[in-house]
Amino acid sequence: MAVTAKPALDAHKVRADFPIFEQTFHGKPLAFLDSAASSQKPRQMLDAMTHFYETSYANVHRGVYRLAELATEALEGARDKVSRLVNAPASREVIFTRNATESLNLVAYAWGLSNLGPGDVVVVTELEHHSNYVPWQYVAARAGAEFRMIPLDEGGELRLDAVDEICREGRIKVIATNLVSNSLGTITGVEKLAARAHELGAVMVCDAAQAVPHKRVDVQALGCDFLAFSGHKMCGPSGIGALWGRAELLEAMEPFLLGGHMIRRVRFEETTWGDLPHKFEAGTSPMAEAVGLGAAIDFLEGIGFEAIEEHERELVVYALERLAAVPGITLYGPPPERRAGIVSFNVEGVHPHDVAQILDLDGVAIRAGHHCCQPLMTKLGVAATNRASFYLYTVPEEIDRLVEGLHKAKKLLG
Ligand SMILES: Cc1ncc(COP(=O)(O)O)c(C=O)c1O
Repeated sequence: MAVTAKPALDAHKVRADFPIFEQTFHGKPLAFLDSAASSQKPRQMLDAMTHFYETSYANVHRGVYRLAELATEALEGARDKVSRLVNAPASREVIFTRNATESLNLVAYAWGLSNLGPGDVVVVTELEHHSNYVPWQYVAARAGAEFRMIPLDEGGELRLDAVDEICREGRIKVIATNLVSNSLGTITGVEKLAARAHELGAVMVCDAAQAVPHKRVDVQALGCDFLAFSGHKMCGPSGIGALWGRAELLEAMEPFLLGGHMIRRVRFEETTWGDLPHKFEAGTSPMAEAVGLGAAIDFLEGIGFEAIEEHERELVVYALERLAAVPGITLYGPPPERRAGIVSFNVEGVHPHDVAQILDLDGVAIRAGHHCCQPLMTKLGVAATNRASFYLYTVPEEIDRLVEGLHKAKKLLG
């Protein structure tokens, strides 16, 4: 059988589609190593949004005129693309939200407040972004349920066996975890956790904000019940995210936000809710943003998620190797084969903010702080780290510039 090699991703070529790289910062070309916070935007996505505004813009669902139909088709077409992207069994299981945070709040409030009570246990992990931590902590407290964390081991990976200990303390009703950690890049065994959650009769919530932009994610293969992500981290615009949920769970849930076309019938005595997905989409939809997200998906599919994932793996191997030679560096997280394109580190004697500022003077953009993961920072025993994160437009030369900048920072301040 003939084996056709997948074409490798040419990041230099990919960069040509991103207008941001035409600029210089402090007189230097931009080395953007902060894609985990938000990605840059390709021209194809920007053009799709402009084209929608110029040719098809009207409010969706409510109009009977042709222009409103065009806008509705564009919105629903984008929903179909999201649905195919994550291999959802049906498009009506895809809810448009503002971002992953709103998607996760939707589940915590709309599912959690009706399904949790005293004696129940809500399980998150020590690796969670606050967006998949705080809503669960809050809703657990509101419902009188217990709140527990799956701990991290020394190597920056989750001790999934801790679920067996936690389930002795009460009925685990929900397990919420990320698929890829935004701080350490750790890839979590969601399939295994989902299977365990279902054995226990619990629902599995997956925060895929750092996964969907970078690798092929299949909700059916993962076996989760809910999956959340944001458009802005995957070459799409800000202001749009998605929640996929199993239809039977979404149908049984109360709405999260109220008003607009999420209703079926409004009477003085009572209001009834519309069908999926509208029941969870109160108010005017992010129409142009959905079109932008659809175009971003087309763009990423055109390059190929397998090629993107492989490219980032090569970058992370290279980065870990080169960074290890920086004097006084502490690198956090698992080995490259079990992590995505994210590297967190500290340089002894130099505050992460100072590191980031020195790098900025050389046009290198990295993040410094707690990365919305304060429980993880507590575990690591630090207030903050530096974080470099990669995407399909990242080239190895940017990692070289990062390493040079770290040597400089160490020499100046360390
Ligand atoms: C793992 C993870 N979850 C959730 C979020 C929240 O995403 P957003 O700010 O788009 O809601 C982020 C953002 O950094 C993230 O990295």
